[in-house]
Amino acid sequence: MLPLVLLFLGAKADDGRFFDQRVAPIIETHCLGCHNEELKNGNISFLDRESLLRGGAHGPAIVPGKPAGSLLMIALRHGGELQMPPGPKLSSKEITVFRKWIQSGAVWGARLRK
Ligand code: HEC
Repeated sequence: MLPLVLLFLGAKADDGRFFDQRVAPIIETHCLGCHNEELKNGNISFLDRESLLRGGAHGPAIVPGKPAGSLLMIALRHGGELQMPPGPKLSSKEITVFRKWIQSGAVWGARLRK
């Protein structure tokens, strides 16, 4: 019973906490240097959820609820031509964090704001 309750509380608690605690730190370390308001590489900024929904030349970067259809996930896996970040791939643990975040609706937090 207890694990179920915790699961429920965990689900209820997604008010941006998952983004702030798990997703934002990876973005800060690996993406923000090139995708910010000044350097909008690929025309996307990670300080702006709308910008990711809109995407750049390749179309929307994220499709909330659909990690498999999100360009960002394809880029993280380094499977195709678009490989992000350029250079070494993120760890599979980090990639999983992005997948979970997009799967659960890509809720934004307070940590990254323009
Ligand atoms: C060293 C700079 C650099 C870093 C770091 C970087 N990117 Fe990029 N990113 C680019 C450039 C340049 C492009 C445009 C590439 C192109 O059009 O072929 C791009 C394009 C993209 C696109 C496609 C946008 C579009 O529609 O054209 C996505 C999605 C993306 N990056 C995600 C990420 C993610 C996620 C991270 C962090 C894990 C990241 N990038 C880190 C430089 C960077």
